[in-house]
Amino acid sequence: MDDTKDFGTPKQTNDKTVSLTIDGFAISVPEGTSIMRAASEAGISVPKLCATDSLDPFGSCRLCLVEIDGRRGYPASCTTPVAEGIQVKTQTPKLEDLRRGVMELYISDHPLDCLTCATNGDCELQDMAGAVGLRDVRYGYEGKNHLNLAKDESNPYFTFDPSKCIVCSRCVRACEEVQGTFALTIDGRGFESKVSAGNKDFIDSECVSCGACVQACPTATLIENSIIDNGVPDRSVTTTCAYCGVGCSFNAEIQGDKVVRMTPNKDGGANHGHSCVKGRFAWGYTTHKDRITTPMIRKSIKDPWEKVSWDKAITYAASEIKRIQKKYGADSVGAISSSRCTNEEVYVVQKLVRAAFGNNNIDTCARVCHSPTGYGLKQTIGESAGTQTFDSVMKSDVIMIIGANPTDGHPVFASQMKRRLRAGAKLIIVDPREIDLVKKSVHIKADYHLKLKPGSNVATINALSHVIVTEGFVDEEFVKERCEIESFNIWKEFVALERNSPEALEVDTGIPANIVRDAARLFASEPNGAIYYGLGVTEHSQGSTMVMGIANLAMATGNIGREGVGINPLRGQNNVQGACDMGSFPHEFPGYRHVSDTTTRTALEDAWNVKLQGEPGLRIPNMLDEAISGKFKALYCEGEDIAQSDPNTQHVTHALESMECVIVQDLFLNETAMYAHVFLPGSSFLEKNGTFTNAERRISPVRKVMQPKNGYEDWEITVMLSNALGYPMNYKHASEIMDEIASLTPTFKGVSFEKLDELGSIQWPCNDESPNGTPTMHIDKFVRGKGKFFVTEYVPTTEKVNNKFPLIMTTGRILSHYNVGAQTRRTKNIKWHDEDLVEIHPHDAEERGIIENDWVGITSRAGETVLRAKITERVQPGVVYTTFHHPESGANVITTDNTDWATNCPEFKVTAVQLIKVSELSTWQNQYNDFSKKQINFLKKDDAKVD
Ligand code: SF4
Ligand code: SF4
Ligand code: SF4
Ligand code: FES
Repeated sequence: MDDTKDFGTPKQTNDKTVSLTIDGFAISVPEGTSIMRAASEAGISVPKLCATDSLDPFGSCRLCLVEIDGRRGYPASCTTPVAEGIQVKTQTPKLEDLRRGVMELYISDHPLDCLTCATNGDCELQDMAGAVGLRDVRYGYEGKNHLNLAKDESNPYFTFDPSKCIVCSRCVRACEEVQGTFALTIDGRGFESKVSAGNKDFIDSECVSCGACVQACPTATLIENSIIDNGVPDRSVTTTCAYCGVGCSFNAEIQGDKVVRMTPNKDGGANHGHSCVKGRFAWGYTTHKDRITTPMIRKSIKDPWEKVSWDKAITYAASEIKRIQKKYGADSVGAISSSRCTNEEVYVVQKLVRAAFGNNNIDTCARVCHSPTGYGLKQTIGESAGTQTFDSVMKSDVIMIIGANPTDGHPVFASQMKRRLRAGAKLIIVDPREIDLVKKSVHIKADYHLKLKPGSNVATINALSHVIVTEGFVDEEFVKERCEIESFNIWKEFVALERNSPEALEVDTGIPANIVRDAARLFASEPNGAIYYGLGVTEHSQGSTMVMGIANLAMATGNIGREGVGINPLRGQNNVQGACDMGSFPHEFPGYRHVSDTTTRTALEDAWNVKLQGEPGLRIPNMLDEAISGKFKALYCEGEDIAQSDPNTQHVTHALESMECVIVQDLFLNETAMYAHVFLPGSSFLEKNGTFTNAERRISPVRKVMQPKNGYEDWEITVMLSNALGYPMNYKHASEIMDEIASLTPTFKGVSFEKLDELGSIQWPCNDESPNGTPTMHIDKFVRGKGKFFVTEYVPTTEKVNNKFPLIMTTGRILSHYNVGAQTRRTKNIKWHDEDLVEIHPHDAEERGIIENDWVGITSRAGETVLRAKITERVQPGVVYTTFHHPESGANVITTDNTDWATNCPEFKVTAVQLIKVSELSTWQNQYNDFSKKQINFLKKDDAKVD
């Protein structure tokens, strides 16, 4: 089906069909379908204005009237469902007359500036005037009209011009039904009625700039500024958002080689035509003047950069790696791949390390986010991935969100989840902070908010499990049939211990025992319970234990293996799932197969024609430690900024300074690149072919919209480096890399670019048993056979509060920015968040004499930084919270190098700190500013600026 065609009303999926005739054509459609949609699916267009197929019909414009034999009047086809045997006429002289009359009224209060209007040729009002044959308007502008109303240009991405509004209410309904924000209303009645963002400018309203209203508007009233500036696009390419793990599909709409609009794809499996502010609007960084497009080298980080040819840069990088390996041994070099890059790019980086470097020193940024998910889920259910599709949430009866903030972190999925919650699903939130879903989202209120103390996740999951086990909520049949019974019995005995009761653990969790008990009862007693979790689970010293605890709970309550249930890690970055799938960990080949597994290793050795190491290589923290101790000497870092994103910044920069060759491949001279000796300019997601894999294992196409400004797609640069190192790689196109991945990775066996073009996206496993992919996993049995329970003893973190550091700092991100902010800071999103703030409870603030906007010194055992204060009750007393989107904030100067026991994932979420009011920046910030300034100068009169 053409994804750009608007069928007027949403598709119905009813199994029962209804037959009717429209304009003499016999048509059968699912029961519940509107006459408008039935006609449209049969190729018959009925004029419409207030209807669009992303919204429920509303029936206000009266343009879509039809005649039905035997019925009186002229019903609106958008609000009238089909009925068996009816005969509908969409074109009669009377209908034409009525429609022209309606259009005439609209046009009489609409500026007739079509020729100079930004959406000329792309306007439904204009189209409908033509469709109904309106040639003349009898009413002039003499009477009252809206033509002089002022524009609202407060939003950086779109403009609201009320003089063009036909009050069709599509924007209001989009904000409610699609986005779930309820920022807009129609104020007033009759002639006075108008769209209002709560009587405020858009920028000051509840609006979150998702753009759903702009997309829904049939006129130029709500319009993208990029269209005002450039005019309408002339072609489009379907690709995938490069920001978060939701993986929204977009049509990149282009004029020449310039993107003028990103429109979410209605056929997108993850987003169904919706988007957030980042994907739809924040793509300006791809052409930002800060981008570096010429390779650069230098001997020392104290030297200025020298711009060189690609040939020279690659030859130099390869010769340095060879020199270092010769001097310090094969294991003295390694690489970090990126979850921002495509599967194909990540695959060639790990292959380069294994085949050309000759070791397993490859790690990825998942180390610092979801590595415990990989470990915990592999142990318990046998596959390191979420179990469901996003759509599955529409069948959930109770949703438990642990340590995630979907409205900020995964906004498009949050909109879908909010639809389900508004329709009646129950909600349990486990989070130290009052995230929006607790009570701020309109028509949604969490049934229980388990406001735990940071660091007490495992105690909380044990307390919840205790109630399940001791109050008879275990799904015995599921456990007996699907799980290893011995492991279950050991776990059951463990969680049933009195010391794991909500009462006994109250002192650790800070959650009143009765709330834990009620939440557990609610979760277990609804038919379908789904768990969604984020970095608030994984980034702890017991991250892996907590993931196993979540799996235990899901298995014990039988909530796995069908729609509406499951264990759903909300992956952070666009391709963090894919980066893990592609073998980016030092202990695993693609497809999560251990490097010591001889069958896999032999197969790869045969295919790659090289001998591979059978011992795991270094993880990122090990690389850094060994750099400081003098054993690790060179790093190839693609699309990752460890100097900003990893904990204990001073330790990271010290390690980088200790290396002899740091090669950074990126769009911008980021924080890590300031310590680099070779800079290889990267390509943006709009400039490459490949695939991303989202949080629901959905592999989606990334397609080249424009030629790479740096000259090469990222995988081509890795290939050049490999060839220069003497290990030949001969791919001509990213699709050939995917073909190799498919041939060597069982779960990807059926994946190819051709199949992706055919199906749009594929959820792995995709193989002979599931040629079109696997939306829900573990249906009849777990990937590991039987599900395995693990005892999850609560071990409090060693990062404890005391008199010196009495508060716990935890971190998170916000809607408008993305992680280190390298992309979003180079867009107009900066308007919403131009600095990181520290949130502090009024009580803690008062004790310290801190008021809103004060400069506050934050000191931990690792370091010190200074941020402005935001006083809020969203955080509980004793807890402070900050984001980490700006490098100069130094949030990671404070975080310690405590890590998860199994995976070394940093404990970002728990840092003991003290806050005091100060008047100047910290020593680190002053040093950082000096160092950055110097590095900027080293770019000379470059075409790039520092990150
Ligand atoms: S702004 Fe657009 S969508 Fe909203 S009521 Fe006006 S014309 Fe309709
Ligand atoms: S941009 Fe999104 S949130 Fe803002 S008013 Fe439009 S639909 Fe609502
Ligand atoms: S929800 Fe995520 S994937 Fe979707 S548009 Fe926003 S940032 Fe992109
Ligand atoms: S399109 Fe049916 S009433 Fe407006």
